[in-house]
Amino acid sequence: MAVTGKDINKARQLLEAGQLVAIPTETVYGLAGNALNSAAVAAIFKTKNRPAFDPLIVHVPSLDAAKSFVADIPAQAAALAEAFWPGPLTLLLEKRPIVPDLVTAGLPSVGIRCPNHPLTRELLSTLEFPLAAPSANPFGYISPTAPEHVEAQLGDRIPYILDGGPCAIGIESTIVSFRNGQGIVLRTGGLAIEDIERIVGKVTMQTHSSSNPQSPGQLESHYAPRKKLLVGDLGDLIAQHGEAGTAVMSFRTDHRHPNQIILSPDGDLDEAARNFFSSLRQLDNTPAELILAEFVPDTGLGRAINDRLRRAMADR
Ligand code: TXA
Ligand code: MG
Repeated sequence: MAVTGKDINKARQLLEAGQLVAIPTETVYGLAGNALNSAAVAAIFKTKNRPAFDPLIVHVPSLDAAKSFVADIPAQAAALAEAFWPGPLTLLLEKRPIVPDLVTAGLPSVGIRCPNHPLTRELLSTLEFPLAAPSANPFGYISPTAPEHVEAQLGDRIPYILDGGPCAIGIESTIVSFRNGQGIVLRTGGLAIEDIERIVGKVTMQTHSSSNPQSPGQLESHYAPRKKLLVGDLGDLIAQHGEAGTAVMSFRTDHRHPNQIILSPDGDLDEAARNFFSSLRQLDNTPAELILAEFVPDTGLGRAINDRLRRAMADR
């Protein structure tokens, strides 16, 4: 069992000693280690059972701090950082040699973000190094949005979970790269495309999955529960599969199913995003063998929810 608490000093001491600490962010909990220490970074991959070809995001306290780790910040990237950091936005930028190749899986670019959570911001500002942190779940499984989720899955492998309560946004950061001044979205996430486009104009979406992904968040099967997940018209799915042995994750409609979670009765996509991973996890832990769900409107954070649903239902 890991110790769970709000002690920033303890977290700092462990990280300075090269150990791993789970940290809260506004998106999901991260499994953090010193990004400049290759041994700590290797421990992250090992603890998560993550393939070494899947690069990690580096967390910094500010845009200014980011400048030490990237060669150049194009104007568009700077504009986005100024508008949305701290916040659920990861920028892919050309890395400086100080960032270990292990962090970026040998890629020339590094994913960098300034997370928006008071505890983690304070922690980052007291550290002399940035934190590499993937989501704090075993590779491929549902992302953690509360300290209990981390404890349940990685509690026996890490010494400390910094308790920042439930995550305010609940879905991972949006990842944006740049080519010739053009923004390219590699992963939809907690920052809506509409908000990004208000700052830098039209962006290209490159969030398709492939077996050789540019961003393994693009891997077809990811964010997945253990139970089989079907996504479609919930009325039809319930009629087809019955109530016994099924669990239902509805966007806003009450299907009067005995094992049902409604993500947002008011149809609020931000609320649905906040509840999404914890609901999927909760249903995955019921005796039901089959989880039935539906897509949400494809706007705002709905895009990121639908992306996670598609990957969670993909066959492994
Ligand atoms: O909200 C988040 O981004 C959370 C919190 C903890 O910050 N982190 C997170 O990390 O979601 P992770 O490792 O679960 O997902 C990071 C994604 C992966 O799909 C990875 O492939 C991609 O970011 N990525 C990281 N660095 C990259 C790079 N240099 N080039 C392409 N993709 C990169
Ligand atoms: Mg992840």
